[in-house]
Order: sequence, then C-alpha cells, then structure tokens
Amino acid sequence: MKIYEMTNEERIKLLLDGGYLTAEQAESLRSRQTISTDLANSLSENQIGSFSLPYGFATDFLVNGVDYLVPMVIEEPSVIAAASNAAKRVKNSGGFKTFSSSKVVYGQIVLENLSSADIELLESKDSEIFEFAKEAHPSLIKRGGGIVSLKFNHYDKFLELELGIDTVDAMGANMVNTILEKTAHKVSELVNGDVLCSILSNSGLGQVVTVEAEINFSQLATKTMSGDEVAQRIVKLSKFSQVSVKRVVTHNKGIMNGIDAVYLATGNDFRAEEAAAHSFAFESGQYQPFSEWYIKDDKLIGTLKMPIELGSVGGAISALPMAQLSLAIMKIKDSTQLQSVVGAVGLANNLSAMRALVTTGIQAGHMGLQSKSLAVSAGATGKEIDQVAKILNQTKNYTIKNAQNILMQLRGK
Ligand code: MEV
Repeated sequence: MKIYEMTNEERIKLLLDGGYLTAEQAESLRSRQTISTDLANSLSENQIGSFSLPYGFATDFLVNGVDYLVPMVIEEPSVIAAASNAAKRVKNSGGFKTFSSSKVVYGQIVLENLSSADIELLESKDSEIFEFAKEAHPSLIKRGGGIVSLKFNHYDKFLELELGIDTVDAMGANMVNTILEKTAHKVSELVNGDVLCSILSNSGLGQVVTVEAEINFSQLATKTMSGDEVAQRIVKLSKFSQVSVKRVVTHNKGIMNGIDAVYLATGNDFRAEEAAAHSFAFESGQYQPFSEWYIKDDKLIGTLKMPIELGSVGGAISALPMAQLSLAIMKIKDSTQLQSVVGAVGLANNLSAMRALVTTGIQAGHMGLQSKSLAVSAGATGKEIDQVAKILNQTKNYTIKNAQNILMQLRGK
C-alpha cells in the first residue's frame, strides 16, 4: 500500500516497524500530548496552549549515499508530496550530493566614540582579546568548538570587532551572544570608547551549503513531453528567474517551502534562516535564485547554494519532544548531516515546482489536495471529505460556497 493511502495509525505502525519510532514515541504521537504546559511556558510567554500544524514526512531522500525519511511541518497542501516526488526522481538518478563550508557563526561588537589612538591600541591587542574571548565559554571549547577568527572592520564612525565562533552542533545564538557580551565588557575596559551593542549576525555566511543533483532525462518525462524537452524548459525557466525579480522571489519561496517545514519539524529558528537566505540571495547586488539548472551530458543538473543556519542540539531543539522525534526519524548524528538533508529538501521542492510549471502547471496537483481542505472547511467529516473533494475536482469550482453546496446535496438537504 502507498504511504499516502494509509491511515495515521498505519503510518505510525510503519515507522514503528521500521525502527524509526520507539513504542513510547508512537504513543506520544497518538495521544498528541507532545508539549507540556511547563515546557510551553519555559519556551515562550503568555501561554494558553500549543498550536498544531500538520506533521508528516517526505520519502525517498538519498543524500550523500544515506536514505532518509524527512519530517516536515507544513500547512500548505502538496509541499510534502512535491518533495517526495522529486526526491524519488533524484534517487533514481543517484541521489543528492552536498558540500558544507564550515560551521561558523559570526558575531559583532559595535564600538563608537573611539579616538584613533584607542583604535590603534585595540588592534594591537587582538591576540589578547582573542584569548579572552576563547575563555568566555569554556564548555564550548570542551565540545570541540570556540573562537576561530577575530577581525576589526571600520564603518565611518563605528569600529566593529567581528568574532567567528565554531558552535559545533548548536545553532549557538545564546553561546555567541554570551561570548560577545563578555568580550565587549573586556574591550570597554581597555579603551575609552563606548560599546553600542553586541550581537550575533544572522548572515549565515559561515554556514554555506552546496547541494547537487544530476537527473537522468528519463526521470523527467511526462505523459505528453519527453524528459529531454522538460529538462530544456526547466533550464529556460531557471535562466528567467535570474533576470526577473518577480519570478525569482517565487522560485526562492518554493525552496523555502521545504526548508522552513524541516526547520519547524526540528525546532530550528526559521526566522534566522529566512533572513540569512534572502540576504545571501542579494549578495551580488541583484536578488538571485538559490538554485540553478543546466544540462550536461544528457542530464539535468541542479545546484543549490545558500546559508543553512541551524543546530541539531540545544534550545528548543533539545527541549521539544517533537523536534527530538524528527531528528530520531532522520537518524541525525550532527548538524552538518541535518544541513545536508535540509538543502536537499530545498532543491527537491524546487525541482518539483519547476517540472510542474513547465509542463502541466501547478494547479492540477495543488487543487487536488486543496479541495480536501476546502471540504473540511465546509464541514465535511470522515468519508464525506473525499466525496466532496472529488465533486469539487469535477466541477473545478474551488470555492467554499461550492463545497458547502456539494456537502448539503450529499447530506440530502
Ligand atoms: C508554491 O508555494 C511554490 C511555487 O510557486 C514555487 C515556484 O513557483 O517555483 C510553486
């Protein structure tokens, strides 16, 4: 039986039988008691409950030779189906390959009102400041991380002291900010100037990931178009996204569909990722796509390059049971592995969107699923959902009013 045809219980059993879930985790999924009031209150303020979104998983991700099921939290129909569909095409062609730069988070200490003599003095004491910063978070050094770079940058009236910090498997925002504030205090003792602020940078420039996929033309064919033609049309659309700002925004949004969904499922900070990703896309001075598609040796090649700023331990990731569950389902061992999977999901969602756009259009797939959520919004329950959805698809009139009318007719009212 296909996974999408299974009931929730059958899917849970599948994960249980495959060793992806323990009996306890399966039970927690069934009862949906995934976040306690105490935990909710420790993570955010003014709690009155927890907010649920659909939690599912994408299939067929072969990344650097390892097979993954990828948990995703998303309210938009077809994102998980699209990710799985493209992942299978890539898997049948050899899978995704990824390359990571490093795991460095940059932090900024912004100083002002410094005389030239003070600036000179600070710059001459860079080794001393570096050593001090290293000691500011001893447990990070024990875990194999720590300060990897120190640099002074001059901006008009400001002097910026930039620290590069290897946060190992944590996203590291709190660690970095602690190190920065302690170092800023030390710096302010050395000179007469003022510290304006100390904060990590969400540029993500120390965590750029590249993902590659080579897809055989045969994997791209539709009922009416050859794989070769589909590939050529995808390349043309890729080129168009490089010159049209209106198109590239949508192109990149489709990539973030998959990326944000995995961020949510793993308790990662999707706001940080959104900020990092879009600023990276603007690096050349013109907003550019995260991915590019071209043809080489009878294959469609896709590459995605972007910062993937995340952690596999710490903060909400360690505290939220559902985030832990997601990491367990993926069998994630470290943050580099998670970055690779996230990047592959981004490229997969992009491939699915591009293939649909240059062939049948996206509405065929979208509205099929959208009709089910329209049916639920109209009040359909149980078997009625599929019945209403089916008639909605036949009429192709996707409005709540139409869904309500269909439901009333079905109920004989
Ligand atoms: C919809 O959420 C995402 C797409 O619009 C992405 C794209 O156009 O590339 C389908």
